[in-house]
Amino acid sequence: MKIFETHAHYDDAKFPDRDQVLKACHEAGIQYIVNCASDIASCKTTLQMIETYPWVYGAIGVHPHSASEMDEDNLDRLYNYLTSSDKVVAVGEIGLDYHYDFSPRDVQQDWFIEQIELAKELELPIIVHTREALEDTYNILNDYSYGLTGGIIHSYNGSLEMAERFVELGFHIGIGGMVTFPKVRKVIETVKALPLDRLVVETDSPYLAPVPKRGERNDSRNLPYIVEKIAEIRGISAEEVAQATMDNACRLFGVQS
Ligand code: NI
Repeated sequence: MKIFETHAHYDDAKFPDRDQVLKACHEAGIQYIVNCASDIASCKTTLQMIETYPWVYGAIGVHPHSASEMDEDNLDRLYNYLTSSDKVVAVGEIGLDYHYDFSPRDVQQDWFIEQIELAKELELPIIVHTREALEDTYNILNDYSYGLTGGIIHSYNGSLEMAERFVELGFHIGIGGMVTFPKVRKVIETVKALPLDRLVVETDSPYLAPVPKRGERNDSRNLPYIVEKIAEIRGISAEEVAQATMDNACRLFGVQS
């Protein structure tokens, strides 16, 4: 079973053994990995990784947690990073996080919008982080996503109704380890009802390890647990889920399958 990992953070300090883990993932059938940057420093690490590993692609952007580090100079830096390699396939991860509020909300919103504009200019999809900020995220995307090359609402755990509204705007929904957790009725409803061509799979490694690895350091070799859970919910084979989510991700990111 070949799987496309659409969201991981191998630049994270929890991966001192990154080289071994990335190779082991690829050998285990993780055909492609998109490494998502979260601040200016991790953009640089992401660029080094995509140069080193043929199966790793990059999303370049600044997470809402780090929105406060953004200014005009760093926006120029982002532009240069985004245009420095064909293997940069998205702007991300960007968005809003009202759970931690590590950056003021107006600052998060401003740089979310700036980076959406950058994605439109460069014709790249976006990878969106949203936590306790679904309404504002939707409103900004509704106002600014016209002309955008789509994107992913990552680690989605909102309602089916909200997921359908994001899909109407042209977005894919990223399903991660949460789908394997107990009491996630909304996620299961969403996975069951959305068209299969709108779903992609992700781990968000090193975070959010699926059952039965919950609490451990996550890596992309745990994707089969997520794929199998989606297959069970939809009553189709894991192979079919792996293939469909692979096709969806390849189409979105412009990667040859
Ligand atoms: Ni992430």
